[in-house]
Amino acid sequence: MIITNFSDSEGMVKSSVYDCSILPLNKIHNRAGNITIVEGQKNIPFDIKRIYYLYDIPGGEDRGGHAHKELRQLIVAASGSFDVMLDDGINKKIVTLNRPNYGLLVVPGIWRELMEFSSGAICLVLASEKYLEFDYIRDYSTFISYKND
Ligand code: TYD
Repeated sequence: MIITNFSDSEGMVKSSVYDCSILPLNKIHNRAGNITIVEGQKNIPFDIKRIYYLYDIPGGEDRGGHAHKELRQLIVAASGSFDVMLDDGINKKIVTLNRPNYGLLVVPGIWRELMEFSSGAICLVLASEKYLEFDYIRDYSTFISYKND
């Protein structure tokens, strides 16, 4: 597991899509189905301060379209599948999420877009911080200016 801890603006500037990694999560299977347990600082490298999930996403719609200055997230396809496009201002990477026992760790300073949602997809996000609009960069050219700082 790659543990990356960017808590300062320098980390946000220098982070790359290669710092974002797929984390395998546990899966306990029995004949009644599966369970996956995620514990902050145990199998993901941050404390979980917030959870949210996207669902009922109409076909063809995209989500995201922003970067964060400090927030770290684990993105999980709790159901169905979708693609996450990661962009550090230089490199782009598309990751397909389609298994509930794998999560995509997204570090600060990465522009992300979520697309190609399958019908019934649920995008579960575990976040390292509470909701702070100040932490968002919602304009791509502003994002590029931050990365070139
Ligand atoms: P937004 O971050 O734009 O969604 P996405 O990146 O998935 O397209 O958030 C959509 C709306 O929800 C926006 O009005 C802000 C609000 N919101 C909260 O109030 N708290 C939260 O924790 C999140 C993630 C969003």
